[in-house]
Amino acid sequence: KKDKDKQLRTPIVSVLGHVDHGKTTLLDKIRKGRVTAKEAGGITQHIGATEIPIEMIKNICKDIWRKEVELPGLLFIDTPGHKAFTNLRRRGGALADLAILIVDINEGFKPQTEEALSILRTFRTPFVVAANKIDKIPAWQSPGFVPFLKSYSMQEDIAKNRLDNKIYELIGKLYEFGFSADRFDRITDFTRNVAIIPISALTGEGVPELLLVLVGLAQRFLEDSLRLHVSGKAKGTILEVKEEKGMGITCDVILYDGTLKVGDRIAIAMRDGVKVTHVKGILKPRPSQEMRLESKFRSVKSVVAAAGVKLIAADLEGVLAGSEFEAIESEKDIEEFRKRLEKEYEEIEIRTDEEGVVLKTDTLGSLEALINELKDAGIKIKNAEVGDVDKRDVIEASANRDELNRVIIAFSVKLLPGVEEEAEKYGVRVFRDEIIYSLIDSFVKWREEEKR
Ligand code: GTP
Ligand code: MG
Ligand code: NA
Repeated sequence: KKDKDKQLRTPIVSVLGHVDHGKTTLLDKIRKGRVTAKEAGGITQHIGATEIPIEMIKNICKDIWRKEVELPGLLFIDTPGHKAFTNLRRRGGALADLAILIVDINEGFKPQTEEALSILRTFRTPFVVAANKIDKIPAWQSPGFVPFLKSYSMQEDIAKNRLDNKIYELIGKLYEFGFSADRFDRITDFTRNVAIIPISALTGEGVPELLLVLVGLAQRFLEDSLRLHVSGKAKGTILEVKEEKGMGITCDVILYDGTLKVGDRIAIAMRDGVKVTHVKGILKPRPSQEMRLESKFRSVKSVVAAAGVKLIAADLEGVLAGSEFEAIESEKDIEEFRKRLEKEYEEIEIRTDEEGVVLKTDTLGSLEALINELKDAGIKIKNAEVGDVDKRDVIEASANRDELNRVIIAFSVKLLPGVEEEAEKYGVRVFRDEIIYSLIDSFVKWREEEKR
């Protein structure tokens, strides 16, 4: 039944869960990285991607590694847990072949845990639950980076009981959502039951079993389903559109199928149609490096799915993060692509008001997130765009009748020369921050004070 001629592609594993439950820390443990420490405000605000070669996974599993697998590795997608970033969680969920739902075992289910679960249900994504932070269970003694079952066997009864109770609570919660779940070592049929793997992303306890179960799932669910074979046509999704020094506008993308080559013509979904351009360069992060923070990209001639890469192409103005792209060969391809994607543009909607603040952000993902947050806080938005703050924005903001709206909210962008002087002249206030919650907080606080 197996088709040996076909190349198995790297499965995409998305990590989802409530804010601060340990998604990035877990990935840091696996990739031996320090991404968490570099994040502004201690939260993830973009989608990340890290390719972990199978050799590295084998090394972590060591003694418990049982069989040979054909998978080249796993491509992990990190997502933000902060409530504002529903759009990015959905994007991460939509991309996933498999997922890890991470839950802080001491806190249990939280709003974004539930949201993540409903995303996984919508896309019918097989997933495992990582019950994280077991090292924080009172009386738990961590022996270090070892399999969970080994650590568990070394614990006092009081710690064991506490863990067992927490796991039962999780099983109950998952049951409420229609999933039958159990601790991984009590499961025989992984296709019918959701495995819960107790871990500590900090000490590494349980991470070997987590990876082993994931690799097993990837083989079992996907090997024969053809979804894991590389087909011809390159298909991908754009994570972020970014201006890079010396390269102009580039796109961080996840290639989820096919092989993409330099020189390929690609069609990209735009808000008002399809853009056709060609690939001028493909930049690959090093294995086990987070693409979002990588500085030493390798230039390659081609890349096989799944992979996170940076694309250089002509004429990327107006391309939206979250858009699909596809390699094309003929006019007919373009037409088919256009039809298939027509409804997707409708989902990204930026409606604005006549009177309201001006919003500028670094990416479309953060733009969508901030629009949602501001609307939740009852704040009207006059203009919302990706890009640095320029003098036009000052004029735009100053034209508001209400002083409380003569404001520019700038997330992770620069003020272009002259903007500060201009803002002062026109009585426009600029709130600028790199952390979504402190940006919103300082603006809302100022507004409340001014109202008094
Ligand atoms: P967002 O991306 O912002 O949603 O957060 P996250 O889920 O990526 O969580 P993150 O990795 O940023 O971890 C949040 C905090 O929890 C950090 O201070 C971590 O050091 C801590 N943490 C994560 N995992 C563990 C764990 O297993 N044990 C303990 N004690 N602390 C942990
Ligand atoms: Mg994170
Ligand atoms: Na965090």
